[in-house]
Amino acid sequence: MTRKVTKAIFPVAGLGTRFLPATKSIPKEIMTLVDRPLIQYAIDEARAAGIEEFIFVTSRGKGALEDYFDHAHELESNLRNAGKDELLAVLQSTNMDSGAIAYIRQHKALGLGHAVWCAGRLIGEEPFAVILPDDVIAAEKPCLQQMVEAYQETGGNMVAAMEVPADKASSYGVLDIREDMGALVSVKGMVEKPKANEAPSNLAVIGRYILSPNVLRNLDRKQTGAGGEIQLTDAIAQEITNSNDVYGYRFRGQRFDCGSKAGFLQATVAFGLARPELHDEFLQFLVEMTQVRKAAE
Ligand code: UTP
Repeated sequence: MTRKVTKAIFPVAGLGTRFLPATKSIPKEIMTLVDRPLIQYAIDEARAAGIEEFIFVTSRGKGALEDYFDHAHELESNLRNAGKDELLAVLQSTNMDSGAIAYIRQHKALGLGHAVWCAGRLIGEEPFAVILPDDVIAAEKPCLQQMVEAYQETGGNMVAAMEVPADKASSYGVLDIREDMGALVSVKGMVEKPKANEAPSNLAVIGRYILSPNVLRNLDRKQTGAGGEIQLTDAIAQEITNSNDVYGYRFRGQRFDCGSKAGFLQATVAFGLARPELHDEFLQFLVEMTQVRKAAE
């Protein structure tokens, strides 16, 4: 099978309850880090990795997400007429080619595995990427690009992995390692949200995957797993039994869990500080805030 990865699925059909009331009217993926919505970070990362087809699995109330990818012709011509070329370039960099985006509806939030399965008909017999936009990764070389490069050597199925503290492992899918080769590990088992002290390692799966279409066939059974949801982890783990071809990839970069409030705030600070035009003023503010807090304690 080809090892060229040109399609990516973006599951964005979750309810985003941790961000209520904001997510009552705006999709979580439209929330912004500095001035770019989470989804834009995900799209930029996918493009850097060579993705050409972008498949969104959406649900009710995600209209703003579809609108975001429309070309804003009126706004573009206003900026052009006003000579605001830099802003125009920023705006145009978000434009997507006609036909490059597809939207599939997940009618009920039955779990991440089910969301990925919903996009199955658009995948066919080729490997595909899955990107969870609420995992934002700051990296010199974008995470999915690192994985696509590693995948050229391995083929099979690859999940992004990172070390987490033992007491946090039960919030993740966790890898049972067969062989640790450094950045790459071969995997002999995967457990979604293991009970405390039952995690097979502290190497957790985060929201980047390169998968074979076999995983979609495994999802056909629509078996529920942890939390009563149809889990992507279980369908990937099935491939260990079927083909023994699953790898974890320790990416280089810092991952922020923007699906949680604390992670989102940390990402805001990190991405704010990374902007040269904001850095000095923002840092000064943070230092002052910290001093005021310390004095008050
Ligand atoms: P989360 O576990 O973060 O769930 O989903 P959520 O619904 O988005 O947010 P909370 O927990 O209620 O705050 C992880 C990813 O899987 C997608 C989500 O959109 C998110 O990108 N997902 C999850 C689906 O697309 N469909 C589902 O049924 C479940």
